[in-house]
Amino acid sequence: MKGVILAGGLGTRLSPLTKITNKHLLPIYDKPMIFYPIETLIKAGITDIMVVTGGNHAGDFLRLMGNGKEFGLKHINYTYQEGEGGIADALSLAEYFADGEAICVILGDNIIERNIIKAVRDFEQQERGAKILLKEVPDPERFGVAEIADGRLVDIVEKPAAPKSNLAVIGIYLYDARVFDIVKTLKPSERGELEITDVNNAYVKEGTMTWEMLKGWWTDAGTFESLLRANVLVSQTGANNT
Ligand code: G1P
Repeated sequence: MKGVILAGGLGTRLSPLTKITNKHLLPIYDKPMIFYPIETLIKAGITDIMVVTGGNHAGDFLRLMGNGKEFGLKHINYTYQEGEGGIADALSLAEYFADGEAICVILGDNIIERNIIKAVRDFEQQERGAKILLKEVPDPERFGVAEIADGRLVDIVEKPAAPKSNLAVIGIYLYDARVFDIVKTLKPSERGELEITDVNNAYVKEGTMTWEMLKGWWTDAGTFESLLRANVLVSQTGANNT
């Protein structure tokens, strides 16, 4: 399985912090944010990694991480997203890299306490489809929210005003190689972006989406509140623990 880290976007919700750098290069406790998703993948046994970045500071990723020697990697792949097409648009840039293999996609601002080895292994046994990870949150309206009926995932709604559960879809997704064909069928949402939730719902409709609950804490870091929370959580327990 290959790994794709989505680290583009303008990070406008964090302006002015993101005026002169990319959001994913901001510090989370003692490391740049992008280090955490890289470690998440490596700890899950995924070492063939592509970073999709964008915006005005993409070159800084290369200066920071180079070929990934610090992480014990021989090589890191990079690609560049033009414009602000959304998460699924950024993902489409990894098609050539994936080269027909399954992928684990992680949003560059998602940080977790434990590891995802079990979900990755389970997905390797799954012949086709996708897998998402869910976490109970106090503020589901900020996220993609899963509707579960009789233990079955029936729908995912992006930032619902009236959430049907408190189960957020975290930004770590496992997909079979067909994901790139699904992205090609998407139409931009009201905010003008190709939504990862639409990709996930295509698998839900097909009946090939599975889900697991994430163990340990999870946070994103795209707002001032969540950036602060991420720093506090990492300082207290560390991230990507076994
Ligand atoms: C994105 C996804 C959302 C998901 C979240 C996880 O939201 O659209 O479904 O729950 O990441 O971090 P965004 O960060 O773009 O608001």
